[in-house]
Amino acid sequence: MTEIEGAAVRLRPLAPKDYPAVHAWYEDPELVAPYDRFAPDSFDDFVRSVEGAGDDPTSLAPRFAIEERSTGALVGVVGHYIAHPVLEYLDVWYLLGNRAVRGKGYGREAVGLLVGHLFATRAIERVGASVDVENTPSNRLVAGLGFRVEGTLRSALYHHGRWHDVNLYGVTRSDWAQSHPAI
Ligand SMILES: CC(C)(COP(=O)(O)OP(=O)(O)OC[C@H]1O[C@@H](n2cnc3c(N)ncnc32)[C@H](O)[C@@H]1OP(=O)(O)O)[C@@H](O)C(=O)NCCC(=O)NCCS
Repeated sequence: MTEIEGAAVRLRPLAPKDYPAVHAWYEDPELVAPYDRFAPDSFDDFVRSVEGAGDDPTSLAPRFAIEERSTGALVGVVGHYIAHPVLEYLDVWYLLGNRAVRGKGYGREAVGLLVGHLFATRAIERVGASVDVENTPSNRLVAGLGFRVEGTLRSALYHHGRWHDVNLYGVTRSDWAQSHPAI
């Protein structure tokens, strides 16, 4: 079983015991989707998507639970997916469902662990992230990991009653090796 240890959090595969909490996060539009479309699944569809994700590299299902190391508590999830039908890279996404632990660096550490894991285990040269320009914590999170804005898609995402611009971020394997030499 893949577990990826950081200083404050670890990534581990989702287990059935996590499903009710993660699905409940998905059901809360202000928690999961302040900067995204809100599209909840039924609990059964959610479980099917999580359990089928291994066979589907385009799946948007969560791929790892984020666990707080000091307590063992489930605090969030991260995922990755093939973001383009032709181009060869993965986009990452992330959610701290437990609001109480936001702002402590857990999100950045978790995404950094995921990116390092992807470069270590996949034959890819680029990892991306697509971030609503207004989502300040998310923009700062990836920028602090060394992702660069490579462009801005205008009016690319409709939510909360209007169209939003989306920053396309990327980090290459060589960028990552320079800023994270241990990986
Ligand atoms: C995005 C998210 C994962 C960030 O996690 P986090 O653990 O709170 O973030 P971190 O503590 O690692 O901080 C990352 C950066 O965001 C900044 N930040 C965190 N919360 C912030 C806030 N409420 N307002 C402004 N900046 C904030 C931090 O200062 C840090 O930037 P800096 O180092 O340049 O100062 C979390 O806010 C979340 O789950 N949001 C909802 C889901 C979401 O938007 N996911 C991303 C979709 S693209």
